[in-house]
Amino acid sequence: MAQIWEIPTGYLLILDFKIRGNLMAKYKIAWLSGDGIGMDVMEAARIILKRIGLDAEYIPGDVGWEFWKSEGNPLPERTVDLLKNTDCCLFGAITSKPKEEAELELDPALKGKGYAYYSPIVKIRQKFNLRTNLRPCKAYFGNPLNYRDDIDIVVFRENTEDLYSGVEFHPLPSEVMDVLLKHHQRMRKFEKTPLEDIAVSLRIVTRVAAQNIVRDAFEYAKKHKRRSVTIVEKPNVIRETSGLMIREARKIAREYPEIELWETNIDAMCMWLIKNPQDYDVLVTSNMFGDIISDLCAQLVGGLGFASSGNIGDDYALFEPTHGSAPKYAGLYKVNPTAMLLATKLMLDWLEETDKALSLESAIAKVIKEGKVKTYDMEGDSSTLDVANEVARKL
Ligand code: NAI
Ligand code: MG
Repeated sequence: MAQIWEIPTGYLLILDFKIRGNLMAKYKIAWLSGDGIGMDVMEAARIILKRIGLDAEYIPGDVGWEFWKSEGNPLPERTVDLLKNTDCCLFGAITSKPKEEAELELDPALKGKGYAYYSPIVKIRQKFNLRTNLRPCKAYFGNPLNYRDDIDIVVFRENTEDLYSGVEFHPLPSEVMDVLLKHHQRMRKFEKTPLEDIAVSLRIVTRVAAQNIVRDAFEYAKKHKRRSVTIVEKPNVIRETSGLMIREARKIAREYPEIELWETNIDAMCMWLIKNPQDYDVLVTSNMFGDIISDLCAQLVGGLGFASSGNIGDDYALFEPTHGSAPKYAGLYKVNPTAMLLATKLMLDWLEETDKALSLESAIAKVIKEGKVKTYDMEGDSSTLDVANEVARKL
């Protein structure tokens, strides 16, 4: 029995925990709508999941800006517990603001008490070690926003390391400078620069993370009968970190003789993706290059309204559209729910509900191809829920 609780408050959670035992649904899914249009598009997902009849219990949780303002914590501990007690999570979008603005909007009773804003989505990725970011970028035929109609790229982005590990210095501590001078000739170039004029962000790549992301990419390619995996790095310049990625990729590729390994530099890749995007299948890369290239690929197939993503770990996964909370459209039911519906499809894939995933994708594709029910970004005037209902009808 599918159950979706429509009022996402903390109080209902308590109720849910009681009800959950009786329901005995096959899956427990954390339902985090978040802020702004996150709520609008999650309503669209609700319509679809109801229609599909997935045997799941959907449990709402508190996340985002409202909880930062009222509690000083955008990811309350009760929500972390909720995630721990579910199979996976469907996530809408959240609002994030720079530090100073965040401070200003905090409940006056909480100000000056040491609360600091952090990104709940980054925290969830780290806490649950959601190490793989999966970003499919497929051109659905008939989408007027497609760059070309024959693009079908899947990006695998390492989600926890690289320049985003957060190991950064400014000013550079003198002990760190001493160690760097001792271990690296090249550091001499900076010896005379005042320490307060040097900022350093470490690019960290571990062998295990490199192996994991490359293996995920190859396993995906094998399962979906893809021809090639392209590793996108810059080993000619960033010899150690990019070098490690490439060396591990070459080793792992030998286990998949039916799939070709292509190697490209990140800068050239941006050119190739504009020139011949149809030539590429699966791309695999480290965190920052993946961040850049996945946005580039998303724009080739319609942009934010179509870009879905999975954050996948060994035991848990979170699925979300890649767009944010678009505050100016919040609650207007104007935005395109396709990215959210494709994220729902990724969740069904991950749960190995393959038939349901395929029929959802083909229903989405049909609605796009017909071109009758479409939101403003596709030059239509249908609402978010019109699109969801139309997809539901096609299911
Ligand atoms: P955004 O993605 O929220 O919106 C930018 C613009 O893209 C919108 O104004 C709208 O014109 C268009 N757009 C976005 N989603 C769309 C959709 N589904 N259909 C049609 N058009 C769509 O990015 P923005 O404005 O930079 O950020 C707004 C807030 O969202 C910020 O607080 C930001 O920090 C946060 N954010 C959250 C993310 C997340 O939850 N994972 C990701 C990106 C931004
Ligand atoms: Mg990005």
